[in-house]
Amino acid sequence: MVQLGKDGSLYGQVALVTGGARGIGLAISRHLHSLGASVIVADSGVSISGEAPDPAIAEAVVQELGDRALAFSADIAVPEGAAAAVAQAVNRFGAIDIVVNNAAILQDSLIFKGRPTSWDAVVQNNLSAAYYVLSAATPHLREQVKAGRASGRIVNMTSSAALYGNFGQSAYASTKAGLLGLTRVVAMDMARSGVTCNAIAPFAATRVTDAIHPANTEQAQYKERALKISTRFVAEFVAFLCGEDARAINGQLFGVRGREVFLFSQPRPIEKLVVSGDDAGAQLPALFRERFAEKLTDLKTDLEAFNTEPVL
Ligand SMILES: NC(=O)c1ccc[n+]([C@@H]2O[C@H](COP(=O)([O-])OP(=O)(O)OC[C@H]3O[C@@H](n4cnc5c(N)ncnc54)[C@H](O)[C@@H]3O)[C@@H](O)[C@H]2O)c1
Repeated sequence: MVQLGKDGSLYGQVALVTGGARGIGLAISRHLHSLGASVIVADSGVSISGEAPDPAIAEAVVQELGDRALAFSADIAVPEGAAAAVAQAVNRFGAIDIVVNNAAILQDSLIFKGRPTSWDAVVQNNLSAAYYVLSAATPHLREQVKAGRASGRIVNMTSSAALYGNFGQSAYASTKAGLLGLTRVVAMDMARSGVTCNAIAPFAATRVTDAIHPANTEQAQYKERALKISTRFVAEFVAFLCGEDARAINGQLFGVRGREVFLFSQPRPIEKLVVSGDDAGAQLPALFRERFAEKLTDLKTDLEAFNTEPVL
């Protein structure tokens, strides 16, 4: 039986990291590998908007990692691609223990200028891909536990854009919010097998941070601050979630921003009003003013909410 090391080592574990060849995913691939895991670097090498795939990107990372690493450069945003990535992990390394759904693309535009083709591409890459990978991987995760292997771990990379929103990110924010629903349900569906599923909203300097076009001085300041944040802190938190110490952490949402780790609340009712009789419509204006008006959520974007000096 493969045991998760108390000391944080992941020897004998097999990890599939989507988008594992660049940015945050690259840091995760490197770190899990350095802790002893075998790593499938599933990265098609596409541009930020999901174009121009390049298999050399994942292959270069696997060359760097050496033993216990495998490149998978086909698209995981189609069911056959996701299933093939999982099958390669199992065929090559004998199991799949850790799934990090990290791959994502961006195609931003204000809602009144949006194109359905962009929406479809972003949904496919950021949300459907995670579902395809998990639907292929979770039968193995369940069977492995029954066969005496240590319980698996799933980490979904979401975004503060899902929680706060940001201009022009209707598709991106919607997919990242969708991942939160997926995280909760997978956490429930897999709990009996001891497999955990958690979500992280990361903040780190990558080509995506670099590509932010500041619309005002606050955004310019946000970008300047974000570009100082190393990806390694996200990777370290992922490794923690994959370790034995995190076996009871399930269905949670975290944020990692340099040395700061946030535990996020998840939306629950914060106030209630109750209408009576048959004239609900007539009562609502006054009841709304009385119960809700002071408690509405503002329209602060995620860039505004996290525009503070990071702890590095
Ligand atoms: N960088 C940040 O501060 C930040 C903030 C919020 C959320 N995130 C999230 O963190 C994750 C990593 O972001 P990043 O900034 O490192 O991005 P990145 O663009 O640097 O890396 C993403 C990788 O995913 C790969 N990829 C995309 N679609 C794929 C597909 N269908 N199949 C295989 N590979 C695919 C790309 O080739 C790329 O190498 C993403 O989910 C992103 O939404 C990042």
